[in-house]
Amino acid sequence: MSLLSSFRPNSTVGIVGASGGIGRALVELLTSEADVNEVHAFSRSPVDWNQKKVRNHFLNLTDERSIDKAATDAAGTSSLDLVIVASGILHRDGELMPEKSMRDLNSKALAEVLAVNTIGPALIAKHFLPKLRRHHKTVFAALSARVGSIGDNRLGGWPSYRMSKSALNMLVRTVSIEQARLLPESIVVTLHPGTVDTLLSRPFSKRVEASKLFSPTLAATQLLRVINGLEEKDSGGFFAYDGSPIDY
Ligand SMILES: NC(=O)c1ccc[n+]([C@@H]2O[C@H](COP(=O)([O-])OP(=O)(O)OC[C@H]3O[C@@H](n4cnc5c(N)ncnc54)[C@H](OP(=O)(O)O)[C@@H]3O)[C@@H](O)[C@H]2O)c1
Repeated sequence: MSLLSSFRPNSTVGIVGASGGIGRALVELLTSEADVNEVHAFSRSPVDWNQKKVRNHFLNLTDERSIDKAATDAAGTSSLDLVIVASGILHRDGELMPEKSMRDLNSKALAEVLAVNTIGPALIAKHFLPKLRRHHKTVFAALSARVGSIGDNRLGGWPSYRMSKSALNMLVRTVSIEQARLLPESIVVTLHPGTVDTLLSRPFSKRVEASKLFSPTLAATQLLRVINGLEEKDSGGFFAYDGSPIDY
């Protein structure tokens, strides 16, 4: 059965962060879906897809003009049925690492994490939500992380990443309320993909049990199943890869 059976046939989808572990797997899965007409792959780093269905667009989350241009170019031929923001940062080049304690916090790293994980997706929402199709189910989903849950935080640590994802959850909740007034069929959510074997998680996943460390393809499949099952009443929610709601 189609992974997007609850969407309009011949749908048009967009993946932001298409060069990343989960983003790339999403593009590959969606490209092989018969019901998907066009896949817009948005990334800062170039990717050679060699697939007729895929259209590449440059997008840097820290450059609003590139976001505006990418959204306008993608929606030039068809409105979008599904947009997934699969970009994010936890560490970079050994220079930026999640803080073990507040002693490690510095404003430059905090600002970078917020710019990529919160401000970027907010600007994506600003420019992409108006490009969603009207009068059909549409979904705008941003990948968050369970560690962004305030209610679930019992371990502490990683304050920059946690803050960036908590703020992303608040953004999505806020957007969902405005969106319900403008376009009731459009569903806006944040999703936790589980622990996925990508460059983002690799320095921290050595002690994760093999059965709890998902391949990017499995993670992408699970996320698309959750997205396919979403209904209007779910808009504004935060869901795990198995569809269970996560406490904010
Ligand atoms: N992996 C996990 O275990 C896990 C767990 C919970 C949540 N998540 C969330 O899932 C999402 C995807 O993570 P992943 O594991 O697939 O990470 P990843 O493999 O490191 O991919 C990250 C993606 O974000 C892009 N990105 C970073 N900064 C950017 C910028 N300024 N402009 C445009 N794109 C930018 C990267 O582009 P470049 O290729 O250009 O660097 C890359 O495509 C993230 O939001 C992450 O927080 C992941």
